Amino acid sequence: MKELLPNSELHYLKNTLTWGNIPLSKASGQLQTPFYLYNEQVLLDNFKRFQASALKNNIPKPLVCYALKANANPRLVSLLAKAGAGADIVSGGEFKRAISSRVPAHHIVFSGVGKTQAEIDTALTTDDGILAFNVESISELELIAQRAKHFGKKAKVALRYNPEVHAMTHKHISTGHRTHKFGLIKKDIMTLMKKKALWKNVQFQGLSVHIGSQLLDFQATGKAVERACKLLRELDHPFHFLDVGGGLGVDYSPTERAPKGVDRLDDYMNIVSENIHRHLIKPKVVEEDFRVLFEPGRSIVARAGLFITKVLRTKDSGANHFVIVDGGMNDFGRTSLYGAYHEILPFKKTTRPVRKTTVVGPICETADCFASGRKLLPMKENEFLAVADTGAYGFSMSSHYNLRNLPKEYLLTPSGDIQDISHFS
Ligand code: LLP
Repeated sequence: MKELLPNSELHYLKNTLTWGNIPLSKASGQLQTPFYLYNEQVLLDNFKRFQASALKNNIPKPLVCYALKANANPRLVSLLAKAGAGADIVSGGEFKRAISSRVPAHHIVFSGVGKTQAEIDTALTTDDGILAFNVESISELELIAQRAKHFGKKAKVALRYNPEVHAMTHKHISTGHRTHKFGLIKKDIMTLMKKKALWKNVQFQGLSVHIGSQLLDFQATGKAVERACKLLRELDHPFHFLDVGGGLGVDYSPTERAPKGVDRLDDYMNIVSENIHRHLIKPKVVEEDFRVLFEPGRSIVARAGLFITKVLRTKDSGANHFVIVDGGMNDFGRTSLYGAYHEILPFKKTTRPVRKTTVVGPICETADCFASGRKLLPMKENEFLAVADTGAYGFSMSSHYNLRNLPKEYLLTPSGDIQDISHFS
């Protein structure tokens, strides 16, 4: 019998955790744990669904600039580049990775509040020129202008607008409120636009706005896009794009699941599109070449990854039943950093009665915990389990904490092969 799991490609077939039509124990049961396993098909399907939804909702000339921070594995970035993705990058390292993965430079946006002069110089002097620096402060724009003058270039910039909204998400990943370090508030944008000397070596391309990550409620998104559109009109300056950032969330937990019949991706696109049409396209204030940029990370790659770990031993202590696994918070940190919920799925389904279980790693911190007091099937030594939906902000946030090796990364291809695509190892 096939038992469907929320991650539609993942299911139990004959009590065996199966991805697509590949039983995971057979495919990866011999590999050294802990490791990440990515699914090429799921990754590309997510990307195509994102693009298709933008087009279906009449977004003008959408360009999907994948946010490398979610997962910069060279193979995954190359697959996305080949499928037509641009890139949203925030460091010199991500710039290099995007270029070496064949993302065209003119499809790269460079975000981040702390760009260094060296990073600005590299992006400025690349042959093709990047699509835009998303500028986050007055002094950053001054530096870009100065460096562009130095190289005899015209830098393309978008101003990252802080729309002063409250995104409904974890406070550590909310970015669009006026108390946050991100972007420029309206008053500063108005001041900047008037500094004529600054614009000699800088071309204004438009605005960018990114209010936070893991958004499942799009009220603040709608407000932010509306304010950005109105500001674009007010600026009275030709513009070529509006970059609406990333942020579309993933329903990791049962309580986050979308109600029946609701497609969050479509809802999100609809809200973005409605505001752009109402405030920019209907009033005919956009140029022929006007386009909308997106910077999704999580929604493209989260569901395409599993973190696979093995049970080292179990331990009953006080009121707790612990399952101690060989993966730790250094490998996958979201549960310890944000108290995030991720499904824990044993490779083999047994008839053992479920019990309240706390799944922990070997790191010397109580935060090193993948699930606390969760009803799970009892697990025994050497059995494998998968932490689900870990393709985004998994490996990219891993560290050597406790002097541990970084986890390996494998790719499950559509033909069922497993390829070692590890980097930094
Ligand atoms: N654009 C900008 C300017 C960003 O800062 C981010 C994410 C994105 C795009 C991509 O957002 P996404 O579509 O992935 O939500 N480590 C945290 C998430 C941090 C997000 C940082 N910025 C987590 O594991 O939840």
